[in-house]
Amino acid sequence: MNIADDPDRAPARSHLYAMGLTEEEMRQPTVGIASTWTGTMPCNLTHRDLARHVATGVRRAGGTPMEFNTIAVSDNLTMGTPGMRASLVSREVIADSIELMGRAHQFDAMVCIVGCDKTVPAAMMAMARLDIPSVLLYSGSMMPGTWRGREVTIQDMWEALGERAVGRVSQDDVDDLARHACPGAGTCAAQYTANTMGTVADFLGLAPFGVGDIPATAGEKTAAAERVGEIALDALARGLRPSSILTEDAFHNAIVSVAAMGGSTNAVLHLLAIAREAGIDLSIDTIGTVCREVPIITALKPSGPHTAADLWRAGGTSLVAARLLEAGVLRESVTLIDGRSPADIAATAVGTEGQTVVREVKSPVKPAGALAILRGSLSPDGCVLKLGGRPDFVRQGPARVFDSEEECFEAIQGGRITEGDVVIVRYEGPAGGPGMREMLSITGALVGQGLGESVTLVTDGRFSGVSRGLVIGHVAPEAWHGGPIALVADGDTVVVDSARRTLDLDVPAEELAERRARWTRPDRTVERGVLSKYAAAVGSASDGAITV
Ligand code: FES
Repeated sequence: MNIADDPDRAPARSHLYAMGLTEEEMRQPTVGIASTWTGTMPCNLTHRDLARHVATGVRRAGGTPMEFNTIAVSDNLTMGTPGMRASLVSREVIADSIELMGRAHQFDAMVCIVGCDKTVPAAMMAMARLDIPSVLLYSGSMMPGTWRGREVTIQDMWEALGERAVGRVSQDDVDDLARHACPGAGTCAAQYTANTMGTVADFLGLAPFGVGDIPATAGEKTAAAERVGEIALDALARGLRPSSILTEDAFHNAIVSVAAMGGSTNAVLHLLAIAREAGIDLSIDTIGTVCREVPIITALKPSGPHTAADLWRAGGTSLVAARLLEAGVLRESVTLIDGRSPADIAATAVGTEGQTVVREVKSPVKPAGALAILRGSLSPDGCVLKLGGRPDFVRQGPARVFDSEEECFEAIQGGRITEGDVVIVRYEGPAGGPGMREMLSITGALVGQGLGESVTLVTDGRFSGVSRGLVIGHVAPEAWHGGPIALVADGDTVVVDSARRTLDLDVPAEELAERRARWTRPDRTVERGVLSKYAAAVGSASDGAITV
């Protein structure tokens, strides 16, 4: 932007004067600071403050900060309600809005401050599209709560609903837990989706290692935010653009981080979407192949006992990178936003004495992987199994079919789902939902009732990072588009074979052909507004559920 010296930009200058800018500030590089602050959730509550500190760093480094906001949707507040349909849609809206601000105001560089789940991939998608020097600042995790002498997170809240259904806890207990589970600002407090994606940003190279780890309310965050402002100017001086950072090797490292840290299944969707924006040919099967080779080396919830704050105290994602690098599973020829190399990160990583959060790759927490990509007659275009480090298994059971999350939740809470069932929840896909809701109310209820390992859940929807249990999501093609999941009937045999990476429907082909001839799409089209536009534009979950 050359507003200060262009005679024809005098009208534009008048508005910058109105904002108090000097001519010198108009001549300096401008740094757009995108904040995903909203006052509707704790996850992004610190972003206004952080933006101020980023701006301080930008000024100190000789730039002119320009702050702006986007929307953000809380997954936890909308979970189990029709509002959840807005969640994945918000990823596209946030990416579009950051991109539009960048295109309109032609910033020289950018910092994106993100927290809650969708804001992180959205910002990275926008960075890839704009391709100007950009830094991602992950605002940080919430501290865990304490309830009746034990550490708790939002995961305990959702599982308490299932425990209540079988009489293990009372409504008073649930209400009391709600007062203690979330003690302050920050993202959900373990390796759920937001922290998974914050880590992905480190390993992709768009966020400086060591910054995202710092919890949202820790004092160290403000100095780190100022440093991020300086890094943006430094990246500008070096001409370092996202297109130089987002390489195939960078995506490999990001997938490794998801696998090694037992990350959220949502990472599959988001990595595919970011790769698409970056022009990288990443397939769902590549993600599956990498995940197969990497064991889980961190003992983080939901598959372990520790929280994100524990990881920070133990040595953070830098320590994870060091362990992965020494095992040779990370690629070294990548570019990181702050100019350090993976070897530099590893060399300065310090594991706190006695820490039990991060292990070495040769003695992992769980030898099997975090995620698996399955294909088969029930999911010809692929789906994601939350393997959670389980050893190989074959599971076969009768289908219990539901056409919405609510119907299924009611059946579970009513005690109508029993051990061995394969619960099918369909018409919850990207177009069918629309919006591909997360099934946390269902998985929380199953785990809370002690059915997390004995009941298999299969859906064309998706899962919160908080979800655990034997869950398979992102089934493609989705039911709305007539995928085989639309043809499943109560009592059909469904077979999952984790070693073969298959998900099959054991029904004769002739019977399926008859069902297909009779199949009609349910009459529940959303006719107006953003969800209608989204349903018409969104693609398959196997391609990242992006809009085109
Ligand atoms: Fe925002 Fe979990 S709901 S990070």
